[in-house]
Amino acid sequence: MGAPSPPTLLPIHERAEQDALSYGIYVHFPWCRSRCLYCAFNVRVEADPRMADWAEGIRAEWALRAPTLPGRAHSLYFGGGTPSLAPPELIASLVQDFPLQDGAERTLEVNPGSVDRAKLEAFIGAGIDRLSIGVQTFHAGHAKRLGRGHGRAEAEALLALLPALPLRSWSFDLIFALPDQTLAELEQDLDRLLQVAPPHVSLYGLSYEPGTPLRRALDAGALQATDPELWADMYACIGERLGAAGYERYEISNFALPGHRSRHNEAVWRGGRYAGLGPGAHGFLPAGDRTVNHDGLADWLADPLGRAERPSPEEAAQDLLLSTLRHADGLRLDRLAAETGHALRPGAVAPLLQGGALVQEGERLRLAPGAYALADGVVRRLAQGLRPVPPPAPTTRTA
Ligand SMILES: C[S@@+](CC[C@H](N)C(=O)[O-])C[C@H]1O[C@@H](n2cnc3c(N)ncnc32)[C@H](O)[C@@H]1O
Ligand code: SF4
Repeated sequence: MGAPSPPTLLPIHERAEQDALSYGIYVHFPWCRSRCLYCAFNVRVEADPRMADWAEGIRAEWALRAPTLPGRAHSLYFGGGTPSLAPPELIASLVQDFPLQDGAERTLEVNPGSVDRAKLEAFIGAGIDRLSIGVQTFHAGHAKRLGRGHGRAEAEALLALLPALPLRSWSFDLIFALPDQTLAELEQDLDRLLQVAPPHVSLYGLSYEPGTPLRRALDAGALQATDPELWADMYACIGERLGAAGYERYEISNFALPGHRSRHNEAVWRGGRYAGLGPGAHGFLPAGDRTVNHDGLADWLADPLGRAERPSPEEAAQDLLLSTLRHADGLRLDRLAAETGHALRPGAVAPLLQGGALVQEGERLRLAPGAYALADGVVRRLAQGLRPVPPPAPTTRTA
């Protein structure tokens, strides 16, 4: 018997509109086999991780959060950490517990070296229909320098398993602008990526996060961050190579073949709502609250809901600007006003439009494709131009 065919996807815009009215679920798995030298995520390396307690904790947190969430979720995302270290039965029991829409996307992040074919099949049997594969680089020297716990052989072995699996989609994560990486080395990573032809690609430039060994090495002068000109050349090269191969850049760092955008990520960048479950997870709830869970397993088990804060209208406006301007569809100005009571001063927008960094079509403001590499600066400048929408002028009545 052949593999079951993957479910058909709704057209992107129809789906995105429906998703804006719903919510996604992010579940954080807080363990890895080893810690990469650039990683600032909430992860631990432990000989005997308490995974059954973690799964119980996710259930307990969900029981508390569910009553405030409307209907069924459009997506479920197991991220980490390395959730592919979890036993598939544990993932299966959690997938069954969540109220998901028909055809909801169910993603699991997978690290090379953490699974074999049988385990991947068991995850799919557990209801997972999308994998996000963390290759990061094929280059042995760079992988070592990043402290990745695997090399090219493990990455290739995992990639070789994917074509035979009945997945709806899968993603390939690559990091560029690595210490001393040349443009030619990045091109070699892209050559191999394009041979493998993943339906979805996330391509982030390395960031030197505070508190990480790589950042300490940078601060001590033991290595140098990528020169901004080379960074821009690398980013341009990525856009050209992936564009020529039929990928659509739907977010600054994310590319998809038609029909393969990540529903989870797409909702986040459209300023959509999601419940964040697990140690250290962040959420953005339909009522407008931002949630931050305790990082430690014991603290989180004792107090699963952690902190919740309602952003001020100005913070909400900044958040909306920050997320939606990363997305190719940009920001709707009428939505900014309706959701946050804020608008952008024309004097802040006009120079960016004239300078070619922004494009406006009716109520929609987006980054010009040529300005994607400058997105952080553009968003910072725009955020300074936010102001409360003035109340309507009182109408004077004449007798
Ligand atoms: C936290 S990781 C989890 C996935 C998996 N554990 C892995 O490492 O492949 C999720 C993604 O974030 C990105 N990432 C994490 N730290 C980063 C950093 N310091 N700079 C750039 N990208 C980073 C990588 O693309 C990575 O695939
Ligand atoms: S495998 Fe991923 S989550 Fe784990 S330490 Fe490395 S980058 Fe961080």
